[in-house]
Amino acid sequence: MIITIIGTGYVGLVTGVCLSEFGFDVTCIDNQPEKVALLQKNISPIYEPGLEQMMRSNADEGRLHFEGDVSACVPGSDVVFLAVGTPSADNGEDVDLRYVFAAIEDIAPHLKDGVVVIVKCTVVPGTSKRIHDRIGELRPDLDFSVVSNPEFLREGSAIQDFMRPDRVVLGIHDDRGRMAAEQLYRPLKLQDTPITVGSLAGAELSKYAANAFLAMKVSFINQIADLCEKVDGNIIEVSEIIGLDGRIGDKFLRAGPGFGGSCFPKDTRALAAFARKVGAPQDLVEATIEVNEDRKRRMAERVLDAIGDPTGKTVTILGVAFKSDTDDIRESPALPVLDMLIEKGVNVRAFDPKATEPAAKLYPDVVWAGDPYEAALGAHAVVIMTEWNVLRALELDRLRDAMAVPLMIDLRNIHKRKEPTRFGFSYISIGRDRAEPTELDTAAE
Ligand code: UDX
Repeated sequence: MIITIIGTGYVGLVTGVCLSEFGFDVTCIDNQPEKVALLQKNISPIYEPGLEQMMRSNADEGRLHFEGDVSACVPGSDVVFLAVGTPSADNGEDVDLRYVFAAIEDIAPHLKDGVVVIVKCTVVPGTSKRIHDRIGELRPDLDFSVVSNPEFLREGSAIQDFMRPDRVVLGIHDDRGRMAAEQLYRPLKLQDTPITVGSLAGAELSKYAANAFLAMKVSFINQIADLCEKVDGNIIEVSEIIGLDGRIGDKFLRAGPGFGGSCFPKDTRALAAFARKVGAPQDLVEATIEVNEDRKRRMAERVLDAIGDPTGKTVTILGVAFKSDTDDIRESPALPVLDMLIEKGVNVRAFDPKATEPAAKLYPDVVWAGDPYEAALGAHAVVIMTEWNVLRALELDRLRDAMAVPLMIDLRNIHKRKEPTRFGFSYISIGRDRAEPTELDTAAE
């Protein structure tokens, strides 16, 4: 099967590389020539564990190619994946489908009879049908199918999520689309991955519903963490206890500084806006968004409260990526903290193992250090914003000695409470500072 992937962003690139790993012949297309040039040298424009090695081995085997022009490969393709970006529109809410429909205009003249167009990007219900109709208008004589196949890849573990997914979701309108998609995912079917086959709109909605539900779990546990702080409770203990209930599940119950990234914030806003428009408002999703926005603001305030008068103070931010194992800082909870500190005239120093380059472009006045200890020099507080392993393994005596005042604000709860205090730190964390440690708490920490 010959496959073309339109768009080499996060989703397109991971999908293309993994399908070539299955043995298919894959060409990934991007309209940014500098990106294509990088990819042709097997350099990944994003940091994703394992991706570059897999790119290189499949390119060496001759199964993976990168091009800038759709006419080079779409005419010979049995399957064309649409994996272009679907960012927020200018109003900050609706999903912007302009790149999707621009890609349709580009590829339509080149599609061959019998082709299956697979919509991988996150689009509101009804979009795959619109794509089908538009191709039909542009190519009235073309025999083709459209499949909706949303992705559930997490940044940082995208290869694993592609190769061992919880499920593969297929929305179809005919048998040809179904058969082509089933053939593509046969390697996963053989390892007993559930493959659900349903309607186009059902598949589209399931992507939004899954992300919104997970985001809601995060906002929920963050609010329970607030409650823990009022009643001397311990959020680690509460998360563990409720997570042991199989109906709830133990995932996405880590309290922290709020969710960020390229998906949860954008997808929850798009779902809420879409649902309002079609007359089925999603109050829980609306609340999830509001709680998260408020949380990010309050985390910044927590840091300011902890340092007292900001005049002449230095604060070190450890981690700016929206989570570990990625260099992505989009909607990272670290950004409002940086903004507020800068606004108050605090000297900000920072370290991130992977995201320094994009972050330094946004914050040129911050001093970007090469390691956490250099970052902590003369600081009146260090703030842990991302759960990087290198921050879990901090040498606390070295960190303390670099600082002017040993204050640690751990917004990811990555340290055992007793550890930093043993080294002389004042330690502030999330949802557990006032509780006595219990057996369960110590085991969980
Ligand atoms: C998400 C979805 O998980 C994935 O299926 C989808 O296709 C793309 O969006 P990603 O954005 O990579 O993936 O990150 P994810 O691991 O889901 O985390 C999202 C946010 O929630 C991060 O900011 C993370 O720090 C936060 N989070 C997650 C918590 O605060 N607590 C948790 O327990 C889990």
